[in-house]
Amino acid sequence: MRRIIVIANRLPVALKDDQWVTSPGGLVRALEPVLQRVNGSWVGWSGDTDMELEPFEHDGIEQVPVPLSSAELDGFYYGFCNSSLWPLYHDAIVAPEFHRHQWHPYVRVNRRYAEYAAEVLHGDDVAWVQDYQLQLVPSMLRELRPDATIGFYLHIPFPPIELFARLPWRRQIIEGLLGADVLAFQTRASVRNFAQAARKYGRAEPQARSQLAWQGRTITLQRAPIAIDTAHFETLAQSHSVRTRAAELRHEMGDAKRIILGVDRLDYTKGIDLRLKAFAGLLERAQEPREYAFVQVAVPSREDVPAYQDLRAEIEQLVGRINGDHGEPGWSPVSYLYRSLDLEELIAYYVAADVMLVTPLRDGMNLVAKEYVATRVKDPGVLILSEFAGAAEQLRSALVVNPHDVDEVTATIYRAAVMERREARVRMQRLRRTVRKEDVFEWARICLAMLDAV
Ligand code: G6P
Repeated sequence: MRRIIVIANRLPVALKDDQWVTSPGGLVRALEPVLQRVNGSWVGWSGDTDMELEPFEHDGIEQVPVPLSSAELDGFYYGFCNSSLWPLYHDAIVAPEFHRHQWHPYVRVNRRYAEYAAEVLHGDDVAWVQDYQLQLVPSMLRELRPDATIGFYLHIPFPPIELFARLPWRRQIIEGLLGADVLAFQTRASVRNFAQAARKYGRAEPQARSQLAWQGRTITLQRAPIAIDTAHFETLAQSHSVRTRAAELRHEMGDAKRIILGVDRLDYTKGIDLRLKAFAGLLERAQEPREYAFVQVAVPSREDVPAYQDLRAEIEQLVGRINGDHGEPGWSPVSYLYRSLDLEELIAYYVAADVMLVTPLRDGMNLVAKEYVATRVKDPGVLILSEFAGAAEQLRSALVVNPHDVDEVTATIYRAAVMERREARVRMQRLRRTVRKEDVFEWARICLAMLDAV
């Protein structure tokens, strides 16, 4: 097998008390064994600014840190990545901002990633660039290494052309991406949207199915929905410690008859506010409100971006209002945790939950939905899933909702809460079959096979 160089915004390791520790997350767990087998490298940012670090090895993978200054972090990461591209690519749920003084660091930082990657790319190695932070890297790397095999994977949606058209630097982004040999996306819609934008703004010529011709090269477009290490989640969900903890959690939540769970990064794309309103609707209509408990885990994210600060304030106010309206001394219907949980604790929450609410307004994939399904080994549980999550293309036996329709979500939570066990079991079995078959190793295999064939 050829050597693989992953180029991603972040390294798969971070410094904790002066020690490098592996970061949690699906991409890292999927790619780690592959890179270990092929003696691969990972080029990315360490998470600390103004720090020059030499390449080093961790768990059998060469880590190549790319330095970022704190000014670049502002312009590139908080600015162009997370105040322009992120909202634009997620249906402009929050208005994207476009600033030249943020675009310039995006170009500069992308060039640096390409240069660091070029240093470690030799012979017939495969370069595999990840996500929206690095969309200029494929072409910049191609300039430095014209014969390299370059793949690109977009983890977030590629937006419809009507939205993408707003971007002042749309041509540069398209030309940046077209430097790759294979461009892979989460959903069919994203493949379609990109193909349209590439024709219009990059003058790429459509070829045979899923191929574009551009500057004398053929570029393959691919749909490859990302997934999880299903077996690992299943194993942990059956462990004694997780099951004991899940029972404890149920007890701590007043032994409510139905525990409803949401787990998200605190992001405006996730629809946490509308979901809380839908739950409030259920409490208003329920004969016995105390039968229901809703737990929302909100993982802190991008806390320096004003839109995230506003969202946090809004959600916390809403939680306060619902608990104020419906709670009683010693009982609050909503438990709100603003923190990240370690994997075993997270799985204990999944195991404890009767109903999982995954209702983003737009989401590339949403792995929480897949994780919940993977952990429902003993009791079925019901997954309520937004039609705007990439996962809805695969998880068709979930209860699929329009997250903007608060009444529909309220009615669906009720439907899930009273669903007959038999129906819940049949639905969950189908979902489990999908997440077992289409796990993250299969995802990596499909993506890498396409690159290997170039
Ligand atoms: C999304 C993106 C990833 C990103 C992650 C966490 O899943 O697709 O590229 O790493 O969010 O966001 P952060 O900004 O903390 O890296």
